[in-house]
Amino acid sequence: MNKRFYITTAIDYVNGLPHLGHAYEKVVADVIARSRRSLGQEVFFLTGTDEHGQKVQQAAVAMGKSPQTYCDELAAVWQQLAVTLGLSNDDFIRTTQDRHKKLVQAILAKLHRQGDFYKAQYTGYYSTKEETFLTEKDRRPDGTFDPSYGEVVELVEENYYFRLGAHQQWLIDYLEANPSFVYPENRRNEVLGFLKNNQLEDLCISRPAARLSWGIPLPFDPQFVTYVWFDALSNYVTAPASHGDPGALAGFDAVDGVDLTPGNLALWPADAHVIGKDILKFHAVYWPIMLKAAGLPLPRQVVVHGWWQKDNHKMSKTTGNVVDPVAVINEWGLDAFRFYVVRELDLGPDGNWTDAGFASRYQSELANGLGNLVNRSLSMLKRYREGKVPAVAHDLAAEVGLAVVELRQRWLANQLQGGLESIWKIVNRANQYIDQTAPFKLAKDPAQAQRLDEVLYCLVETCRILAVCLQPYLPGTATRIFQQLNLPGTPDRLEQAQWGRLLPGHVVGEPSPLFPRRDAPPKK
Ligand code: ME8
Ligand code: MG
Repeated sequence: MNKRFYITTAIDYVNGLPHLGHAYEKVVADVIARSRRSLGQEVFFLTGTDEHGQKVQQAAVAMGKSPQTYCDELAAVWQQLAVTLGLSNDDFIRTTQDRHKKLVQAILAKLHRQGDFYKAQYTGYYSTKEETFLTEKDRRPDGTFDPSYGEVVELVEENYYFRLGAHQQWLIDYLEANPSFVYPENRRNEVLGFLKNNQLEDLCISRPAARLSWGIPLPFDPQFVTYVWFDALSNYVTAPASHGDPGALAGFDAVDGVDLTPGNLALWPADAHVIGKDILKFHAVYWPIMLKAAGLPLPRQVVVHGWWQKDNHKMSKTTGNVVDPVAVINEWGLDAFRFYVVRELDLGPDGNWTDAGFASRYQSELANGLGNLVNRSLSMLKRYREGKVPAVAHDLAAEVGLAVVELRQRWLANQLQGGLESIWKIVNRANQYIDQTAPFKLAKDPAQAQRLDEVLYCLVETCRILAVCLQPYLPGTATRIFQQLNLPGTPDRLEQAQWGRLLPGHVVGEPSPLFPRRDAPPKK
C-alpha cells in the first residue's frame, strides 16, 4: 500500500457565504493536487466545512434556525462551491458529521488519559467574535482592544487546558531543522520569531456547555464542549482515520462507536496543508504540538497563501466590497477564473482584485494568447491539409521541452504562478513562430509544401502539449483542446507532453474559440 500525496485546505466557517478568498485557496490546492497526479503520484485531496463554535451558533440564532438546520443549509452551498470550482477533491468533511465528532472524542480521550490536560479557573477577558481569551498584553496603547475582536467581556470560568508550553523548545528545534515545514520562507521566520519572543501559554481546549452548546462534548466531562480550533484542526486526521488510514489511527484511543480497524488507504502524514496567512499560528504552533502529543508524525508542509483585497480595500460584506466567485464564473467561465487567480497572485504575498485587471488578462493571455494560437493552428491545418497531421517535425521541440522541464520543477516547488509563466513561454513562442514562418504565405507557393507541413506539425503538436501542461490549471480547456484535436483520453499526465507523440495521418476535429473575445466591458 503506497502512501498517497495527501493535501488539504482550511475548512471554511459556515457562518457566511463563500467569497474570492475562500475560492482562491481551494483552486490553489486543486492545482497542486492535479499537478501531482499529472506527475504520476497518487493523491488524496480533502476539503470541507468548520461548523461548530460560537460564530456559527450566533449566526443560526440570528436567523431563527437550529444550528444543525442552519449548518445543513450552508454546507450545501459550500459543497456546491467545490463543484462550481471544478475541484478534484476525494472527500469533503463536515465537522458535524458523526465520523468526525467521534474521532475528535477519541483524540481527546487519549490526551486526557496521558495527562496532557488539566482543569483550571480563568479570570480575564474574552472575545466572542474570535472565540479567544485576551490578556492585558492584547490592549492597544489607548487601552482598548482591537475592533477585530468585537465585543470583549470579562469572564470567570473553569476550563480544561492543554499543556502546550512544555513543547515550545521542541517546536523551535523542529522548525530550525526542517526549513521546508512552512512555505514560503518568510512565514517560517514569522513563526520562529513568535516562538522565540513569546512564552507559549497553555491552550484552553474547552468551553462550558452552559455558555456554548454548539460543539463536541468532551468525552471525559460532558459539562464542556471542545474548543472549535481543537475540533477543526483535527479534521486533517479524522478524515483519513475514517477511511481506516493506519498512519492516522495511531493517534486515537478506542472510545464508544469508533472503529479503529485499519483499511487500505495510507494518507497520514499530510504532504501539504494549504491555508491563509491569518491562521498560520494554529497550523504551525498548536497543530504540531497536538500531533506530537497524540503520537502522530507532523505534516510535511504548511503552505501559506496571502490575502486578496478588492480595489485595494479589505473585502467586506457590510460595504458590499466583495468578489463573488460564482458570479465571476457565470460571467466569464470557470477556467478564466482559475487562470486569473493563480496567474495574478503568487503563492505567498497578498493580492488585489480589479475587474479591469481580470478583463485585461482574459483578453491578452487567454483570448489573444492561448485561444488564438489553438484556433489559428487548427484552422490552418483544416484549410491547408484537410485536418490531416503531416510528418513529424521538430522546429519547436527543444524550446517546448525546456519549458516542460521548468514547469515540472515549478510544480514541485509550489511555484504555481511560475508554472503558468513557463506555459506562456510556449504560447508566446508559438504565436511568434506563426508570425515568423507565415504559413498563409507558404500556402500560396507549391514549392513550399514541405515547409508548410513542418510548420503545421509543430503548431498542432504544440497545442497538444499545451493541453497537457495546462490541465491542472484549466482542466476544462485542456479537455476542449484535446477534443478539438480529436484525441482520445484526457491530457492528465505530464509524460504525455513529450514531443512527437502526435501521429502523422491523424485527423483533427473542428476548431471553436476557447475564450470568446469580449469587446464590451463585463455587465454589472
Ligand atoms: O479560518 N483572501 O475559516 P474561514 C484569501 N474555519 N484567503 C482568505 C481570505 C481573503 N480575503 N479570507 C479568508 C477559518 N481566507 C477556520 C479554518 S482550518 C482547520 C479552520 C481564507 O472561513 C483563510 O485564510 O475564516 C482561511 O485559510 C480560509 O479562507 C477559511 O477561512
Ligand atoms: Mg476567518
